[in-house]
Amino acid sequence: MKTAALILAAGRGTRALGSRPKQYVTIGGVPVLAHAVRAFLAHPDIALVAVAIAREDEALYRAAVAGLASSKLLGPIGGGTTRQASVGNGLRALSAHLPDLVLIHDAARPFVTRDIIDRVLGALAQSPGAIAALPLADTLKVADPGGRIAETVDRTGLWRAQTPQGFRFGDILTAHERARAAGLEEMTDDAAVAEWAGLPVALVLGSAANAKLTLPEDFAMAELAAGGPDVRVGQGFDVHRLVAGDHVWLCGVRIAHTQALEGHSDADVALHALTDAMLGAIGAGDIGQHFPDSDPRWKGAASSIFVAEALRQVRARGGTIGNVDITLLCEAPRIAPHRDAMRRRLAELLELEEARVSVKATTTEGLGFAGRREGIAAVATAVVVLR
Ligand code: CTP
Ligand code: MG
Repeated sequence: MKTAALILAAGRGTRALGSRPKQYVTIGGVPVLAHAVRAFLAHPDIALVAVAIAREDEALYRAAVAGLASSKLLGPIGGGTTRQASVGNGLRALSAHLPDLVLIHDAARPFVTRDIIDRVLGALAQSPGAIAALPLADTLKVADPGGRIAETVDRTGLWRAQTPQGFRFGDILTAHERARAAGLEEMTDDAAVAEWAGLPVALVLGSAANAKLTLPEDFAMAELAAGGPDVRVGQGFDVHRLVAGDHVWLCGVRIAHTQALEGHSDADVALHALTDAMLGAIGAGDIGQHFPDSDPRWKGAASSIFVAEALRQVRARGGTIGNVDITLLCEAPRIAPHRDAMRRRLAELLELEEARVSVKATTTEGLGFAGRREGIAAVATAVVVLR
């Protein structure tokens, strides 16, 4: 018996509202798709694994499976505009490999286990089709158009369909081709295609953990199940010299002072430390690398542009800022009277709530360059949560 697995990853994940299709979001630092692919590659009875993807996701796909090199993994197959169409493309591509059985699985179910795969394969020995499913636990209601309960449905005999869904290869390929020829293209699982074609399909027990990640809240739950979110921490440090002048910029706020900070840009030492902390959290180098002093574009520049660029890079990697904490080391000016304005400005620059922004200050008891009022130093920490 030659068994193939077809994993569906060509959807857009519109209900998940993420910055990328949900199958490429990481859970526990590993892309959702990679969790699913790994489970099938690791199963000893599965000879081939193929993934249907959207062509525009090719780079995301390559990155997601980069760590999974296996001779069982075929090249990606182009998906279609509906799930059913993606399965059709996948089955046609797999037919060249002449499998006897196929397990069709949603990439958006990263926590499929060996046990579940075994149960579906076990049932396929007796039945032309078998799917993982869960008996309904909640009471079911029918709503009227006004959102009130019209009636309660008896849940006896009701199951929620999951994947994998397994079939004899020839049966399900024929069923899909017939459904397509009949103009049907919106069936949301393969059991529906099989039922329509008159194939008997058995139900075997899936699991609650094998739920499909669909809504934003599902990802938070999945992170917890995987042992917590992928949290990164970065730190930054900067110093600028104090020279003659009448104001300093600190945390994006202009403060009248008896000296000024010297620098190529506006010399906002706090925003420079913050930028480095954000870049550090995602391993993206430092401020000098992205904004060299030698570049005339940054002469006199407002340092908020450095923070904005670091934020863009964090987001481009699927990150969100968890919180930031800045400590200024100076004898003067006094920071306390400006702390609220600084937190407000930082929250605005980072598009964060103020509760996630902290600004602190300390003198150095007259010691060192800060104590002698020769310069101001700042240290910053940024937490980035990767999705
Ligand atoms: N899928 C697919 N091709 C499509 C649509 C969906 O391969 N044209 C895949 C998805 O990638 C997912 C699985 O089918 O792994 C189940 O679909 P669903 O949960 O609906 O995912 P999406 O369509 O991506 O999400 P949404 O409906 O919220 O946009
Ligand atoms: Mg969908």
